[in-house]
Amino acid sequence: MSLLIQTIRNTGKSHSFQKLIQAPLSSCTCLLRRKSSDVSKKFLSFDEVVSQRRDEARRSLVVQVNSESSFNELYGYCSNYASINGIHHYKNAGGEHFMLIEFSTEDNLKEILRSCGSHQKDNDIMALQSPFLWFRACSGKKEKIAPTSNTLITKNGNAAIDENLLCEELGSCSTVSDQIQLLYDKTMLNDLGIRLRYMVARQLEIVFESLYANIAVRPFGSSVNGFGKMGCDLDLVLSNNLTDEMSDPTKRLVYQEKKSEGGRGPWQRHMELVGELLELRIVGATRVQRILHARVPIVKYAHEFTNIDCDLCYNNMSGVHMSELLWMYGSLDPRVRPLTFLVRRWAAAVGLTNQHPGRWITNFPLTLMVLFFLQQKTNDGFILPSFKNLVNRAGKEDIRIAEENVNCTFLRDMNKLPLECYSQNQSNLETLLLQFFEYYAQFDFQEKAISIIEGHPVRKPNALPLYIVNPLEPALNVSRNVSFEECERFKLEVRNAAWQLEAGLEGEKSDDWGVLGLIEKRASRNLKKLLRVGNSHRLVSVKDLFNDNEENISEEGLRSKLQRLTQTRHENVEKSVKEMKQMIATQNATEKKDQKIKFKNSQVANEVFRIRRNKMV
Ligand code: GTP
Ligand code: MG
Repeated sequence: MSLLIQTIRNTGKSHSFQKLIQAPLSSCTCLLRRKSSDVSKKFLSFDEVVSQRRDEARRSLVVQVNSESSFNELYGYCSNYASINGIHHYKNAGGEHFMLIEFSTEDNLKEILRSCGSHQKDNDIMALQSPFLWFRACSGKKEKIAPTSNTLITKNGNAAIDENLLCEELGSCSTVSDQIQLLYDKTMLNDLGIRLRYMVARQLEIVFESLYANIAVRPFGSSVNGFGKMGCDLDLVLSNNLTDEMSDPTKRLVYQEKKSEGGRGPWQRHMELVGELLELRIVGATRVQRILHARVPIVKYAHEFTNIDCDLCYNNMSGVHMSELLWMYGSLDPRVRPLTFLVRRWAAAVGLTNQHPGRWITNFPLTLMVLFFLQQKTNDGFILPSFKNLVNRAGKEDIRIAEENVNCTFLRDMNKLPLECYSQNQSNLETLLLQFFEYYAQFDFQEKAISIIEGHPVRKPNALPLYIVNPLEPALNVSRNVSFEECERFKLEVRNAAWQLEAGLEGEKSDDWGVLGLIEKRASRNLKKLLRVGNSHRLVSVKDLFNDNEENISEEGLRSKLQRLTQTRHENVEKSVKEMKQMIATQNATEKKDQKIKFKNSQVANEVFRIRRNKMV
């Protein structure tokens, strides 16, 4: 726990310390696993955390079961073969139950895999190497299994957060800083979410290992950079895993290699092959989509056992080093991640970001904007060092050269960074959030670029509306896709947010007090205001509008009920009726899409062979 204690001492934030102490142990796993020889270390490196997680995945299996009450039987069965560290339970979107089992050693896992049965003797099914299994009901006489004193580490660990409950809890916080911290604590990707993402990577690695030597599949992006929320997408990169030892010139026998000449073409073909393998050899992978003509060719797929949407690319190590950089900035000061979460959530609520690609800003450049703001030298001092500072302090052990000779060398060990290089400012999260909005409300987007390399605004090299320098490839703008209109909207929204936050702090607490007004979707906020009964804070529940047996309320019915319940002005009711109809239509469309996906997906039909629901324990 030395990391926590020292960081908190630096910033004088006993509040965060208490929260962290109370946080589930699972979220501190990496801190608890520190080696005894490392006690004097304040920060773990990204490589240390990643190798712990990869190692954990090599020792883990995901088993589909009938329900969480299968725990005792599964534990008893597996512990006959191998020693178990712990079991986590979760459900996927289809309501199917799974348990992630972590064994003590990789040999334990191999032992249990040797004991696995194959499905059955069908000719049209090929057995797959995979860490995803299912637990068959006992055939014949049921063996008596003694109850274990062990319990599930996590129950329903993948459950989506209840937004209404979250808003209620945020509403009862006593300060805006507490709200920001709570939002982070409640919505960040939890330990099970991280484990499952490494399992999905491991599953691919097992298949690719049979085709390529020294191959690795690594998660990058928000799943590992410390800015991921529950349910975030998984970015994966397939790359060589060459160590210095392998390129040792004294080794006389060397693999013959097949060179990939001809620019992007061969990589696209590799990715085509990957797409085929995903469809044929990766159990649980569905909706495979090949996007091969992008700058970085990718294959997208959905992993239905874990509910994770994945983007797999080839040889994009600069993306991994970028994730490492963001992770390091996030771990330098305990305010960085909560503030970034809030900004990302606000941007989604006001529609600045969007899950589809387009002419708008995305979470990655938005995160760089937060880091850049925290580098500013205000009267109170700065919080984060410039990237230049990290590059200047790099040693021989920090040299990393990614594809296309991109130099990704920067200081990796934050323990070597002098104390005066970070956390100089003691402001609380509320002040920082307000300052963030104010900073960008007056930023000269027309003339200046945002550069975390320098830590201060620099002259824009071209006339693109928004210029955010890529720290690893300074000639590139990571927000080159952002249109003039979207940049203008950003400016407008930061001004609105600053005004709203400031105004909301005065007077009595209302439903959109503090950050609530910033993070709730506009449509639902308007609706909430409208549904308020008279001047009271009690809301008309949407349930009040529908009878239990009324599936499709007519527009007229909705209108008259709203009028009766709220006694609001005519035009407000009209607006609200429109918004509600839209909400209902979107919900129906999503439900229909989900149904369609299930039917369209040929793999699901094949899975019927594999899963005999009634036969599962
Ligand atoms: P969400 O997926 O929205 O949660 O955020 P994310 O951080 O994962 O962003 P995204 O999926 O768009 O990108 C994944 C990762 O790729 C980022 O975190 C960066 O590490 C990296 N990345 C994204 N865009 C660029 C870019 O223009 N250049 C480089 N070098 N890396 C990038
Ligand atoms: Mg991502």
